[in-house]
Amino acid sequence: MYAIGNDHTGVALKEIVIKFLEEKGIQVKDFGTQSTEASNYPEIAEAVSNSVVSGECERGILICGTGVGMSIAANKVKGIRALVCSEPFSAKLSKQHNNSNILCFGARVVGSEMAKMIVENWVDAEYQGGRHQTRVDMITDIEKRQK
Ligand code: RB5
Repeated sequence: MYAIGNDHTGVALKEIVIKFLEEKGIQVKDFGTQSTEASNYPEIAEAVSNSVVSGECERGILICGTGVGMSIAANKVKGIRALVCSEPFSAKLSKQHNNSNILCFGARVVGSEMAKMIVENWVDAEYQGGRHQTRVDMITDIEKRQK
């Protein structure tokens, strides 16, 4: 199951992404918001991130205006490797090399077709491990050194 969350800027794009994931046979847990009233992206980012690190959800997708706020907030949660991107190449490589577990993008940046392409490349890519695991472990070591 994938987690998804968004602030007020991402409501419409979130629905498109959920439909796209479900058509690919992926179950989705929606952490909201469903409202276009102003909301605070860090709350949603934390909820989705916790669902990923707890193992409740396999991976997560976060949408705000730019994707930037969501990615900054998500990366504060230990065990999260979130990327923000606006094209599919980075999404694919972030999974293959960085084992990214949360994908963020901006509803004010990408259109629905680009968003679907980003999601598809990220979902379909596989982590390659090997030499990349050493570097991913080094990221975890940074977390361990933080008080
Ligand atoms: C909301 O106006 C906007 O700041 C938010 O959606 C996001 O882009 C923050 O990074």
